[in-house]
Amino acid sequence: MLERLAAFQQRINVVLEDIIAQRKNAMPERLFDALNYSVLEAGKRLRPSLTYAVGESLGVPLSMLDAPAAAVELIHCYSLVHDDLPAMDDDDLRRGKPTTHIAFDEATAILVGDALQALAFEVLAQAPHLTSIQRLEMVRVVARAAGGNGMVAGQMKDMGATNANLTLTELRELHQQKTGALIEAAVSLGGIASSHASELILHSLEVYAAHLGLAFQIQDDILDVTQTSETLGKPQGSDERNQKTTFVSLLGLEEAREEANKHAQLAREALSKMHIQSNLLSDFCQYIVERTH
Ligand code: IPE
Ligand code: IPE
Ligand code: MG
Ligand code: MG
Ligand code: MG
Repeated sequence: MLERLAAFQQRINVVLEDIIAQRKNAMPERLFDALNYSVLEAGKRLRPSLTYAVGESLGVPLSMLDAPAAAVELIHCYSLVHDDLPAMDDDDLRRGKPTTHIAFDEATAILVGDALQALAFEVLAQAPHLTSIQRLEMVRVVARAAGGNGMVAGQMKDMGATNANLTLTELRELHQQKTGALIEAAVSLGGIASSHASELILHSLEVYAAHLGLAFQIQDDILDVTQTSETLGKPQGSDERNQKTTFVSLLGLEEAREEANKHAQLAREALSKMHIQSNLLSDFCQYIVERTH
């Protein structure tokens, strides 16, 4: 699995480098440098790898998946830059380097996020090898996942959440929005790129992605308390310092682990209903709850 993931990581890194390099002369130099800094190197590239893995399992050539995979990662990178800002989680380390607002400055970090979000939609709108209908559907799916009913809704709730005012069901919904929604979009894009995925497959992929997304953020909460900053490449204990409501703060470590494993298992079960062969998609379920960063 890790070799296949590494191949996807390499592929998306080249695609992202190309997308950014093409815009070098169209941007103020400092904005370009900060954007480059925020996107290139070190990310796990999990969301684009999911787009590739889903598309590939449905017989879609990887060249058709490059643009959608890149768009999802650009949105994700923007979300990290903004998530780390002083007004949000106020973190100074990301992917093993100073966060964008530390390496540059706050205003630049805000503008990098803005530019990355717009760039994601530009990339989708001009995605090669896809039909206009596919492009339009991808724009819709990513916009919904990223916006005020998806990731931004989750981030908004995350800012105001305390253990006293949030139930487990509400926390599950918060995690589904702040992290699950974009992971679900990454999976959907692979399905949209395929012209012959059946309703059964598309539905099973939705269920798969929903559980995978939840397991992913629960594991992120667990890693925040169990790993070192060095392994994480981001500050350990950020959630506690910011008094965040997490699966660990609500349930404790052991139950949080059980919850993550439960969702990984439900994701696996959704896959088994699809009747397509993808070891990689099922390996993702295990990887997501066993990862250490
Ligand atoms: C971190 O995502 C932010 C969350 C939504 C939990 P990743 O763990 O995928 O971060 P990178 O892209 O590998 O840095
Ligand atoms: C962030 O969740 C989700 C985003 C939309 C970026 P976290 O705040 O837990 O992510 P990390 O731990 O900083 O990567
Ligand atoms: Mg946060
Ligand atoms: Mg954070
Ligand atoms: Mg976190």
